Amino acid sequence: MDRSLRTALFSCILLLSLCVPSSLSQTCSSYTFSSNQVFSSCSDLPVLSSFLYWNYHPSNRTADIAFRKSGASTANWYVWSLNPSGQQMMGSQALLAFHNTSSLPTAYTTSINSMSPSMQQSNLSFQVSNLRAEYTSGDMIIFATLQLDDRLLSTNQVWQEGPMSGATFTAHSMDSANKASVGTINFETGTTVAGTARSSSKKNVHGVLNAVSWGVLMPMGIIIARYLKVFEVANPAWFYLHAACQSSAYIIGVAGWGTGLKLGSDSPGIKYSKHRNIGITLFCFATLQVFALLLRPKPDHKYRLYWNIYHHSIGYATIALSIVNIYEGFDILDPEKNGKRFTLELSYSWAPSQLSWKFSHGS
Ligand SMILES: *[C@@H]1O[C@H](CO)[C@@H](O)[C@H](O)[C@H]1NC(C)=O
Ligand SMILES: *[C@@H]1O[C@H](CO)[C@@H](O)[C@H](O)[C@H]1NC(C)=O
Ligand SMILES: *[C@@H]1O[C@H](CO)[C@@H](O)[C@H](O)[C@H]1NC(C)=O
Repeated sequence: MDRSLRTALFSCILLLSLCVPSSLSQTCSSYTFSSNQVFSSCSDLPVLSSFLYWNYHPSNRTADIAFRKSGASTANWYVWSLNPSGQQMMGSQALLAFHNTSSLPTAYTTSINSMSPSMQQSNLSFQVSNLRAEYTSGDMIIFATLQLDDRLLSTNQVWQEGPMSGATFTAHSMDSANKASVGTINFETGTTVAGTARSSSKKNVHGVLNAVSWGVLMPMGIIIARYLKVFEVANPAWFYLHAACQSSAYIIGVAGWGTGLKLGSDSPGIKYSKHRNIGITLFCFATLQVFALLLRPKPDHKYRLYWNIYHHSIGYATIALSIVNIYEGFDILDPEKNGKRFTLELSYSWAPSQLSWKFSHGS
């Protein structure tokens, strides 16, 4: 096997294996509370390594909740809140936890009514009982029982964190994660948007389908066309292999694309415009390629040369864009990188045309 072919195949395998650990990252359901409490619903919030757990009791409209921040610092404050007025800080009915001057985790409620809140203790627009904060093995957990009403059964949630300076709360940073820490929650149906257990498994399905399609099958189809075509014996087998590879890539890709659009429409507050737009462009390119296959001129036709140029350039553009988009996808799954970085170098050497590129990310 030619060296560059090996590189390309190896890269595909590497790409696939990278998708697995990122999709099996920590989930809310695998966590056991020290007090052995069990919650029927839980949600991996999409940013700030945060998780929400709850039991909703329809008979008295109360919800027992636990908000967990993993990898919490004793020098930070943490807030989880409901905000019927919007996906924003202003108007948030918040549960606040921090380490007080005696270095003990403590929690109280605070209603955020200004753009630079002092976060002093105040009552919320609904009743909160059994409120307490617990700090165990680096996790800050806020427990509470919320008395919900119609307006609060399906509403917005906002979570946030920032540093303390002595006994004062200082402003949180304006990183992308601190801006993306909003979503919706439906206590009755047990769903949240931008972060349920269900939606994160949808994200995984989306990621795996697309990585298999765009990251593995499509480059493999190109490799087949590129390298098997030159062998007399492989003619016309290479063509059928190539067509089969690309058609299955297209079908799987369309399924992955559909799950992506569904994820997008399920998360009205959260926009990943770049990832979405590249995804739509990729879908158009791939569809063009399918048409190109159906409308290809005979090999000896005088337009066949132009068709080849067209088919190859769209094909390479698709692969280049799909690599960019897979990385965009990784960034969405893990926006904070959490200390780990995806390091990958893809190098395809398309001998004999020597079109090659290197794509690296992180360090
Ligand atoms: C609400 O109902 C649940 C179960 O029906 C019960 O366990 C809980 O104690 C009740 N809470 C209040 C505040 O009445
Ligand atoms: C710190 O928090 C603990 C637990 O909530 C509380 O018992 C204690 O009085 C607090 N200490 C101060 C100085 O606020
Ligand atoms: C908060 O509510 C409780 C009871 O609902 C009341 O006793 C207390 O005075 C209220 N606190 C403030 C600051 O309004």
